[in-house]
Amino acid sequence: MKRITLLEIYRHPITQKYVNRSGLAHAISTASYAFDFADQKKVNHDLAVKAAFLHDMGHYLWYRNGKWDYHLYKENDIHAIKGAERAHKLLIRLGENPVHAKKIALAILLHTDSYLPKGELELDPLQEVVAMADKADEEPGGGHHYKTISNKEAVKRIKELDKRVEEKMKVGKDQSAS
Ligand SMILES: [Fe+2]
Ligand SMILES: [Fe+2]
Repeated sequence: MKRITLLEIYRHPITQKYVNRSGLAHAISTASYAFDFADQKKVNHDLAVKAAFLHDMGHYLWYRNGKWDYHLYKENDIHAIKGAERAHKLLIRLGENPVHAKKIALAILLHTDSYLPKGELELDPLQEVVAMADKADEEPGGGHHYKTISNKEAVKRIKELDKRVEEKMKVGKDQSAS
């Protein structure tokens, strides 16, 4: 089965609509961190990078009187649930392996516990990698959502990540699907 690249994912109109909304620069940085953490945790790089890149695509714009409203967001946010569903639909449309699409969707669903009732979640290594990568790129006051990146730079960094993932897959060093 031919690998669905990050570049194909990036270019899809659904990604353009939703990933840009929550910050393309944050998505790319999180994907880079996830690649590195995948090494440490012996997790499949392809899955880690894709889940990290798409992890915030479920955000909704919580605006009141033209201004971002944190309380509205806190009270109503389910971006991890929406993101998991959107990413899954997008990946299946692009022809992703359905088992991989499910793993990616679950990692997105569990990348944050901010919307869940208090309690300890036990994450598997892939889910842990995505949550760690998101945290690594976090800035105070949600600043990571507002970092900007040009389309040219985004494509360059996405292509680099695709290349690194494909090198891992070629040498067969990657874990098959966890
Ligand atoms: Fe998030
Ligand atoms: Fe995030």
